[in-house]
Amino acid sequence: MRLDAAGYDRTEAVPERLAVVTGGNKGVGLEVCRQLALQGVTVILTARDEKRGKDAVESFRCESDINIIFHQLDVKDDDSVASLVRYVEGRYGKLDILVNNAAVVGVAADEEGLKAAKIDADTWISGRAANLLKEVFQNTVDEALNCLNTNYYGCKRVTEALLPLLKRSTSGARIVNASSAASELKRMPNEKLRNDLSNIEIWDEERIDALVNTFLEDLRNGQLKEAGWPMWLPAYSVSKMVINLYTRVMARRHPDMRINCVRPGFVKTDLVWNLGLLTPEQGARGLVMLALLPEDGPTGCYFDQTEMVNVW
Ligand SMILES: NC(=O)c1ccc[n+]([C@@H]2O[C@H](COP(=O)([O-])OP(=O)(O)OC[C@H]3O[C@@H](n4cnc5c(N)ncnc54)[C@H](OP(=O)(O)O)[C@@H]3O)[C@@H](O)[C@H]2O)c1
Repeated sequence: MRLDAAGYDRTEAVPERLAVVTGGNKGVGLEVCRQLALQGVTVILTARDEKRGKDAVESFRCESDINIIFHQLDVKDDDSVASLVRYVEGRYGKLDILVNNAAVVGVAADEEGLKAAKIDADTWISGRAANLLKEVFQNTVDEALNCLNTNYYGCKRVTEALLPLLKRSTSGARIVNASSAASELKRMPNEKLRNDLSNIEIWDEERIDALVNTFLEDLRNGQLKEAGWPMWLPAYSVSKMVINLYTRVMARRHPDMRINCVRPGFVKTDLVWNLGLLTPEQGARGLVMLALLPEDGPTGCYFDQTEMVNVW
């Protein structure tokens, strides 16, 4: 064994395809790890909680011929992101696939009230549940800040930090951002904003920050409805709308990479209090397909599971 200055074994073979998956300890992320690994990808399953992450990797111990490694990553924490980058850089010197999957839903929920409301899948998916769950979901500023910092700024923080390693990919870099039906522009009541959001030419990170700040200001002032923001999981919806924008901005800036976003469908996971209809195995398929796109595959696009759709 030959250790480099940072203590990494440089004699270990560098895998042909190496992936980082955020929020890999459960739900869709865990399945993305499994399905990528079954395709021969070496997967770094990351989780903010060390025990939950290690237990997740341990859950694969009976599956032979797959290579899944744990590394801690809290997407909200700069030091944690830097530590992951040092690890990937030191051990592999490159990255091929980044799946930005980690997310929170951004409301304070009364779980008993939710159970009692007996919301069906159609009502949830259509967003009609917003009215029925007014008393059940509290759109607090703290939850909204946490949601935007995790879902959008977390995705951006991790992407920017790993970008130099993705540029060294030997098989063609792929970035997959988990989005949601809640991001689709038909859900945006404010017509001016809807038109702006559909015109990608005018967007960059600075303008996205300004949009997020306006949303937060309207939330603080109790003006979400009047300002025409979506009232179904507002912070979550906005976080995914800006993820879509960021995906397109990045795809335009890095035409050599394949960078796309995807809604996994309504999946039975903790995020949606296990109300979903699809299994995590089904929900993961679109993300995995986009992680393994061929060189001439699409970029800057939005997918509903494995189907490309135009939502802007
Ligand atoms: N389920 C659905 O119906 C549905 C629908 C549309 C879109 N999506 C999207 O699909 C993706 C996966 O969701 P899911 O349904 O699988 O949800 P989930 O089961 O709740 O998993 C979310 C994952 O994100 C992790 N996470 C949260 N905050 C984090 C942070 N600060 N740093 C690192 N990891 C963090 C969670 O870790 P902990 O275990 O530590 O909390 C967990 O591993 C999300 O982007 C979600 O928005 C899901």
